[in-house]
Amino acid sequence: MNAAIKRRTFLAASALLAASTRFPALAASKGAVSQEHDRRVRDLIAQMSLPEKLGQMTQLAGGRQKALNSRIDDAALDRVRQGRVGSYLHVAGAEPLARLQRVAVEESRLGIPLLFAMDVVHGYRTIMPVPLGMAASFDPDIARRAARVAAVEASVSGLHWTFAPMIDIARDARWGRVVEGAGEDPYLGSRMAEAQILGFQTDDLANPDALLACAKHFGAYGAGEGGRDYDRADISDETLHEVYLPPFQAAIAAGAGSFMTAFNELNGVPTTGNAELVRSLLREQWGYQGLVVSDWNAILELVAHGAASDPVEAAALALRAGVDMDMTSETYANHLEQALAADKTLLPLVDEAVSRILHAKARLGLFDDPFRFGDAEREKLVLGSPEHRAVAREAATRSIVLLRNEGNVLPLRSDARIALIGALADDASSTIGSWRARGQMEESITLRAALEARNITYAPGVSPRDPDTSNIAAAVDAADNADIVLLVIGEDFDHSGEARSRSDIGLPGAQQQLVEAIRATEKPIVAILMNGRPLALEEVLDGIPAVLETWFLGNESGPAIADVLFGKASPAGRLPMGMPRNTGQVPQYYAHPPTGRPANPDLSKDSARYHDTEIGPLFPFGHGLSYAQFDYSDLSVVPQGNGRSLAWTISATITNTSARDADEVVQLYIRAPVAGLARPVKELRGFARAAIPSGDARRVTFTLEPEHFAIWRDGWQILPGSVEVMIGASSEDIRLRGRLDNPEARAVDAGETAGAARVTTVTVA
Ligand code: BGC
Repeated sequence: MNAAIKRRTFLAASALLAASTRFPALAASKGAVSQEHDRRVRDLIAQMSLPEKLGQMTQLAGGRQKALNSRIDDAALDRVRQGRVGSYLHVAGAEPLARLQRVAVEESRLGIPLLFAMDVVHGYRTIMPVPLGMAASFDPDIARRAARVAAVEASVSGLHWTFAPMIDIARDARWGRVVEGAGEDPYLGSRMAEAQILGFQTDDLANPDALLACAKHFGAYGAGEGGRDYDRADISDETLHEVYLPPFQAAIAAGAGSFMTAFNELNGVPTTGNAELVRSLLREQWGYQGLVVSDWNAILELVAHGAASDPVEAAALALRAGVDMDMTSETYANHLEQALAADKTLLPLVDEAVSRILHAKARLGLFDDPFRFGDAEREKLVLGSPEHRAVAREAATRSIVLLRNEGNVLPLRSDARIALIGALADDASSTIGSWRARGQMEESITLRAALEARNITYAPGVSPRDPDTSNIAAAVDAADNADIVLLVIGEDFDHSGEARSRSDIGLPGAQQQLVEAIRATEKPIVAILMNGRPLALEEVLDGIPAVLETWFLGNESGPAIADVLFGKASPAGRLPMGMPRNTGQVPQYYAHPPTGRPANPDLSKDSARYHDTEIGPLFPFGHGLSYAQFDYSDLSVVPQGNGRSLAWTISATITNTSARDADEVVQLYIRAPVAGLARPVKELRGFARAAIPSGDARRVTFTLEPEHFAIWRDGWQILPGSVEVMIGASSEDIRLRGRLDNPEARAVDAGETAGAARVTTVTVA
């Protein structure tokens, strides 16, 4: 048998094997139910009437995002007394929530506590960088600490549950919600998912400042066609499992207490009614035991999708799929009873859903002390405390990416005469991004405010939404009288976010004219980008020697950018999503297969490229410069152990050859070809943000196991073969290449993570 046929036979055999082990009873250790909780939950369910059960399965809006608690009126309190609501979202505040909880536990028949939820996405009162920015830190530890701050603040304000992290992979920057996730790569996305979950929940949800996390939006919300929000995802099983699902598997491994189903449909089946995805894959195959909530109104929207003919059918469909809690549509509350009357087989599913909801409450310790979270006195001390601001500052600084620095324009001389141009430089509202919880723009320090004490002239020029160009002349004057121009351009916070997809991700408004006018002054320019998505700026940035990507960095935005501009901090952020040259190039991602005719710079050759633009992105995934220089050397690839314990250590020495201390983000990519298949040219399988003092060196070691190279073909398969390993400073700046030989052929064990979901052990010595 030749090798290709052998492999094909193996694929077929192992597909069978995978099918037979498809429904393992996985005892997920994290989030496993305790016996005591189980007894309590069972007792309660035995006493509950059907309306009370449907009540637990109902989450209502207690207010609006911008008017929290505004819907908690007398009628709402009556409903709580009747036990006809299990959870509220868009509520907050230690005192109001304690009052509301008192009604539930003291005045309802069974005294079941309510679960209070909010989208605490990148901070509660102290606002951190938006998630895409945080991912650019390539530093899961700062992401964990930022989530910890958010949880401490939210819990002291009486909240139990956050709808975060959003862990949707996104390869199309037209999608407005790329701002909420960790970008294009499933490995980075998985590590950021775990870090945030750990930060929100700690290692025990019963801790008084732990917040129940919610991995969302399961399963391929980020694959929406054309980057349009809510639109269909039509993707292969392989892409689903290798690209979109790994962060969700990582979230389970990290103990995520809840999941949210996505609005959109996957290959024709709306996720909120998708039994194959939720009940079969998530519950039965992955053994997930936590609570599953729908997205806002999504159960009722099964009718608009055309998947259900009316709300009764929609309720049945969602319940059958495995959705425990209905966020705001009240379809379970109003229509499930009718569905149950028609189909008794649904009844046990109701008890199962209620049980998961009550277990979540039990794990949070709410049955022991329903008031333990909120604390009005501590709330005054904790929200926005100096310690929390310090974490926000660190997170903001670590998220900044230096994209270009020709002629070492940066860092700036401290006595430089500076023209600060662009309305975004003083847009406090945009610093806190979308999903701002109880963040206050007045508590943000803008770049303009941070530079106030320096020798600057500020000229707003134009704002990203304004077609008015009348202030451009004043901006040109300011530039003419300066040594250097800081040109702040991009999008405002409301250009990205939910339902903010854009067909053109170039520079909005009249900013292009501003850029041209300033460029014409021939002063050196530092472009400072602010945005919630990678923008397509090839032409805009043409001839501009220095470019900083600063996202929306939160309350400490200005000081963090100033620290980088003046060299107090050396930038070490990396792009979590490549920046295209123009909108027509998206979707694009570094981990693409090579094609039979790989993109060729020679236009006379027919190849997989556009004729009217250069090949590839303007700045690739993983790209980011430093004020220091690093040398990569001494790659070693050493097999360890054998048989089932076979692994490889892949090490390299990174030397800081410059005169300044700085961080370097060392990245490990693999290329694992498989006979008969077109596999990605590179896949990230490890990274380390290493602090390396000037003149010093660090040995960075990654440990890879066969599961890291597994591919999805009707199940995770490990195939034998030679794997290229690449260590570098970005997905395109590979410094060292080596090889390892994997003799293994087997299916991945049930319950094991594989591919990008699997953690790579990294040491820096
Ligand atoms: C969003 C979710 C969010 C929910 C509650 C929905 O529109 O898609 O991400 O958690 O609203 O605010």
